[in-house]
Amino acid sequence: HKNLATFPKDFLWVSASAAYQVEGAYDEDGKGLSVWDDFVRIPGKTFKGTNGNVAVDHYHRYQEDVKLMAEMGMKAYRFSIAWTRIFPNGTGEVNEAGLKFYSDLIDDLLANGIESLVTIYHWDLPQALQDAYGGWESRKIIPDFVNYAETLFKAYGDRVKYWVSLNEQNIFTHMGWQIATHPPGKKDPKLFYQVNHHANLANAAVINKFHDMNIDGKIGPSFAYSPQYAFDSNPLNVLAAENAEELGAHFWMDVYAYGEYPIVAWNYLKARGLAPEFAPGDAELLKSAKPDFMGLNYYQSGTNTWNPIDGGVENKDSYQMNTTGKKGTAKASGILGLQKSVTNPFLETTNWDWAIDPVGLRIALRRIASRYRLPILITENGLGEYDKLEDGQVHDDYRIDFLKKHVLAIKEAISDGVDVIGYTTWSYTDLLSWLNGYQKRYGFVYVDQDETMTGSLKRIPKDSYYWYKDVITSNGDDL
Ligand code: BG6
Repeated sequence: HKNLATFPKDFLWVSASAAYQVEGAYDEDGKGLSVWDDFVRIPGKTFKGTNGNVAVDHYHRYQEDVKLMAEMGMKAYRFSIAWTRIFPNGTGEVNEAGLKFYSDLIDDLLANGIESLVTIYHWDLPQALQDAYGGWESRKIIPDFVNYAETLFKAYGDRVKYWVSLNEQNIFTHMGWQIATHPPGKKDPKLFYQVNHHANLANAAVINKFHDMNIDGKIGPSFAYSPQYAFDSNPLNVLAAENAEELGAHFWMDVYAYGEYPIVAWNYLKARGLAPEFAPGDAELLKSAKPDFMGLNYYQSGTNTWNPIDGGVENKDSYQMNTTGKKGTAKASGILGLQKSVTNPFLETTNWDWAIDPVGLRIALRRIASRYRLPILITENGLGEYDKLEDGQVHDDYRIDFLKKHVLAIKEAISDGVDVIGYTTWSYTDLLSWLNGYQKRYGFVYVDQDETMTGSLKRIPKDSYYWYKDVITSNGDDL
């Protein structure tokens, strides 16, 4: 480790959650219903029918959670705001009780020396907007999203320094409109790209609004980036990896950073009648917005081989570019003439078949830094496991090992010259995995909750909690 840089003095050591996955209190204090509140009630959609009605009850227990964060020395807490607590119907009258909940949380964090990293949108769209105009399927979402975000900027802009506009646009649109595993549960390739265009416009408009308001803080989107590799040096396999980068990563990050769709992806979509439609002013809006950082959610890399038009593998259901490793993924997935996703023989996988690849994080950071020249805020990274309670403790040495290797990879990327602002682990407490219930755990803090949804909700710090505490105290020197 001789030539390694040290972490910057003000490096942010963060851990995260999302409203639907932790809060519970799904219908309390004036909250409206979100698309997730409805979707989980459709039989067969989630693991054993689990839902976020109670989740880990963060809504009522946030003070206890913040206290544990403070004891750990966490620099910032990433959480999302439920749009339906602020505007039960997505727009219209503000719900003061909802505004107050997050205001109290932010104050409690500050009183404990912890910054807030606020995600404006982590997938829980107001059902009222889905019903009114199809949510992201309509351009009408743009002013409603800006109005919601502006309300947050006005209410919390004096106390919140870091904002994530959209969490993983690539994932929620992929699962919502390509493979139908998230709301609104559709498989419609053309609509998928149109939805993304609306989300890009809404993202740009919110970033512009934030900058116009001259708020002292930074804003950017969080993207789920899995760097794509070629299986070997066969030029066709290298081309396949480039295709996967173009349609699975540049397609989003180029728009965030440059306000333009990438050339090859655009031509590919246009030739197939899948390119989104532009309205007057769209191109200018996309160009005008400049994020302050690129948010990176990193879990794994992807590996590709060529996929010949004759005799190749095609996802039956959609033009799915599966570069994300997310559930609902067929083992052999691909797009004829573009790429096929294959297993990387050099990498171990988690119990959910996600490739474990710390070097991939260094590669991801370097690629983003070189292509976009933006600071990077790592907004998620973590290991989902079946943690077991033994004598009142959780010995998650496998998680410590995973995180340690990833923190080291960040150190190496910083030594390479990448500007990394902070590192966020997923997740702070155990929480509801959207589709995997409570069995797939990510937290530093174990929560007694399971698919019966009747757990005691007791919080128990795992071994990894004490490990992260040391990492923070030593500012990443003591791994
Ligand atoms: C990210 C999301 O995609 O991955 C989180 O932003 C999610 O909300 C996390 O929980 C882990 O996914 P999963 O499916 O393993 O719970």
